[in-house]
Amino acid sequence: MTRTLIEVPLDHVLDHPLNAHVVSERDRRKIANNIRRTGRYPPLIVRALTPESEYYPGEEGYYQILDGHQRRLIFVDLVEEGYDQFANGHENLAHLEDAAALTEQWAHQVDILYLDPPYPGVTGYETYHVLDSVFAGRLVPTQRSVWSTARFSLQLLDLLGKAQEIPLWVISYGSVGTTLKEILGLVAAYRPAQAVVVEYAHLQAIARTEVAEANREFIILARGEKHA
Ligand SMILES: C[S@@+](CC[C@H](N)C(=O)[O-])C[C@H]1O[C@@H](n2cnc3c(N)ncnc32)[C@H](O)[C@@H]1O
Repeated sequence: MTRTLIEVPLDHVLDHPLNAHVVSERDRRKIANNIRRTGRYPPLIVRALTPESEYYPGEEGYYQILDGHQRRLIFVDLVEEGYDQFANGHENLAHLEDAAALTEQWAHQVDILYLDPPYPGVTGYETYHVLDSVFAGRLVPTQRSVWSTARFSLQLLDLLGKAQEIPLWVISYGSVGTTLKEILGLVAAYRPAQAVVVEYAHLQAIARTEVAEANREFIILARGEKHA
């Protein structure tokens, strides 16, 4: 029998009706704490239920637990308490520093630069700093950003100049105060780029409805030639 690791919605994983294995409340708390702390757990062992199965629920896409009844119950509790996001198993770092300074410091050990700066022409982003405040542990005062102005290009060139060693750049821009041609031109100063244009007409950071409706979002991908 082969085993494959798959992701299954919690409500599609069914107990075996004859399961009699019970874990003490104390042990269950211990397992739950461990999952909360590490985000890791041994995968449940399940079998797919087919119309030929004894306890087929009448619909495809359901699985019966062979091992992991207690873990399923623990997951249900964890989701109920709002813990439905699990750690990725890495020691992540969050910094509240200027992007150019961070890039300079980390470029040599980074695989992807994902840049989602305030867009030129969209000053609403200057009050959009929820994550900044969460990371700082206090309400960070809002401030005008050069990224939001027509002078953003120098910032972008400076930052990308510091990101030469990063194999892949993923850059997000909106069309209000720039054009795809302009961004591609700036990126092309360093490396060839491709773009995807997305209709994105409901950007709350844009005050006027007609401007928001005309808005397009650009996702630019640029792989360094030596990493291609
Ligand atoms: C469009 S938002 C990106 C938000 C984020 N990707 C998200 O989805 O929550 C732009 C972010 O860039 C931050 N920012 C502005 N200037 C910056 C700089 N020089 N260095 C680093 N971050 C900056 C802003 O505070 C804001 O949080």
